[in-house]
Amino acid sequence: MINLAILASGSGSNAEAIIRYFKDHETIKVVLILSNNSNAGVLNRAKEHNVKSIVVNSEQTKQGVLFNELKNNHIDYIILAGYMKLVPKQIIEAFPKRILNIHPALLPKFGGKGMYGMNVHQAVVQAQEKESGMTIHYVSEHYDEGAIIFQEAVSLSDSDTPEEVAKKVLKLEHKNYPRVIEEVVNGKH
Ligand code: GRF
Repeated sequence: MINLAILASGSGSNAEAIIRYFKDHETIKVVLILSNNSNAGVLNRAKEHNVKSIVVNSEQTKQGVLFNELKNNHIDYIILAGYMKLVPKQIIEAFPKRILNIHPALLPKFGGKGMYGMNVHQAVVQAQEKESGMTIHYVSEHYDEGAIIFQEAVSLSDSDTPEEVAKKVLKLEHKNYPRVIEEVVNGKH
C-alpha cells in the first residue's frame, strides 16, 4: 500500500473528496489527516470516514512532531489541501517530489504571499479576469513555486462575485485532485 497523509487547516472539502476517492482503492490509502487547527472542519470529516487525525500546532511542528508523525505512520506522499502553514524544510527534504499542493488559481498568476483563501478570488475579480482555475503542483521550499503538474481553467462572467468564483474553482478541485494524486503515485508525472 502507498500511504497518503493529508494536511489541512480548514473545512476539508478537498480532503473529503480524496478520502472518498481512495476508499476502496487497491494500492493507495489515506491513512492520516494532520491539522494545525483543532477547530478545523476537516477533523470532523476524518472522524466520519474513520480516518485517523492528529492536531499538531506550530510550536510542535518546529520541534519536529509533524515530521515524526509522518515517519511513524509510514507516509509515502503528503497531500496539502488548504494547509495554511509552511511545511518545514526537514519534511520537504525528506519527501522529494512526494508533496503536492492545490492552489485555487492559475499559477503563476494570483500566487505567492497573501494569496490564500478568499484573497485569491477577490484579486481575480478585481483584476477582471475572464477565467480562473486550479493548479496542482509539487511543493518546494517557497510558497506556490514547485513544478506545475496539472491546471484546469473555468470561464468567469463579469457578474461573478468572489464567492461564485470560489465555488466554480472548488468544483474543479474536487474533480481533479484525487485523480491527479493517483496519477502522480502511479508515476505518470
Ligand atoms: C481550496 O480552495 C484550496 O485550493 C486552497 O484552500 C481551499 C481548501 O478548501 N488551498 P477545503 O478545506 O478543501 O474545503
